[in-house]
Amino acid sequence: MSTPRVLPADRGVAEAAAVLRAGGLVALPTETVYGLGANALDAPAVARIFAAKARPSFDPLISHLAEAAELEKLVGTVPAAVAELAERFWPGPLTLIVDRPAVIPPIVTSGLETMAVRVPDHAATRGLIAAAGVPVAAPSANRFGQLSPTRAEHVVAGLGAAVDVVLDGGPTRCGIESTIVDARGDRPVVLRLGALPVELLQEAVGPVLVRAGSSGQPVAPGTLAAHYAPRTRLRLATDTDPADGGVSRQGFLGFRGCPAGDWAAVEVLSSKGDLTEAAARLFDALHRLDGAGVDEILVESVPEVGVGRAINDRLRRAAATWT
Ligand code: TXA
Ligand code: MG
Repeated sequence: MSTPRVLPADRGVAEAAAVLRAGGLVALPTETVYGLGANALDAPAVARIFAAKARPSFDPLISHLAEAAELEKLVGTVPAAVAELAERFWPGPLTLIVDRPAVIPPIVTSGLETMAVRVPDHAATRGLIAAAGVPVAAPSANRFGQLSPTRAEHVVAGLGAAVDVVLDGGPTRCGIESTIVDARGDRPVVLRLGALPVELLQEAVGPVLVRAGSSGQPVAPGTLAAHYAPRTRLRLATDTDPADGGVSRQGFLGFRGCPAGDWAAVEVLSSKGDLTEAAARLFDALHRLDGAGVDEILVESVPEVGVGRAINDRLRRAAATWT
């Protein structure tokens, strides 16, 4: 497999912007995970994203802006609660739902009359979007259903030459995708748990509903029950583990540590028990365990508070692929 051009994020912006304007694909760092970006106004370029990821056409993309001030220029006046959340949390790991303006082609939103939009908290990528002069549609830069990329190396290994340029900004700071909120109605609704904790949202705007991860039809179309999965079988650890006859080589993903056992590979997310650090390391640790040649990865859930809720959400979906 041939490889894409990898450029350092601070020096590659002008070249990457030219690629976007020419209809190409640029993998870009954000504070959450790497995105696979294309000019959101260019339907054929956006179609290349779906092809590169083998992403089903029913799963809409998030459009990225350089500045919060660009939102009203793109979509006109937005509901007060949406404007308030944008003002409070952008740039940052919060995606908001707004009405789709006519300039955004329906392929971006999978035909929905709403669109998802955010301003990522990453200087080079905001510079890139500003230099390209267009909104940038970008899903996570992995093949559909697989582990999200938190390093440029993950993107190169997963997508290869399907990407024209990879901007390498090093490991991403948050390590987990943005929180998606629909604040157009009476009460904001969280559609996907993510790097911005629900508790912080509630401090800012009062009570919110969490509809992410409930059973039945997913509200954010991409939040399928089985997602974010390594190639290796993955299972949530229970109190009766680790003794598991028949499984010869097991890997363990622990929060603060690891139970005694004959593990073939071990990753610990945060020995000091810090959930933010754990989120930042989650996908990288899973990528490493996936490459460790084990038969099964056993994972431990983390405390169900703050960003821990989003971590557990990712672990449950990864495990659901194998059940
Ligand atoms: O942190 C992130 O959000 C990263 C970085 C690159 O910005 N992007 C990301 O994109 O996670 P992706 O494509 O992996 O996930 C986008 C999610 C999907 O679950 C999709 O269904 C949902 O956003 N979504 C997009 N448009 C939507 C809409 N109009 N209504 C509801 N959900 C929407
Ligand atoms: Mg994704």
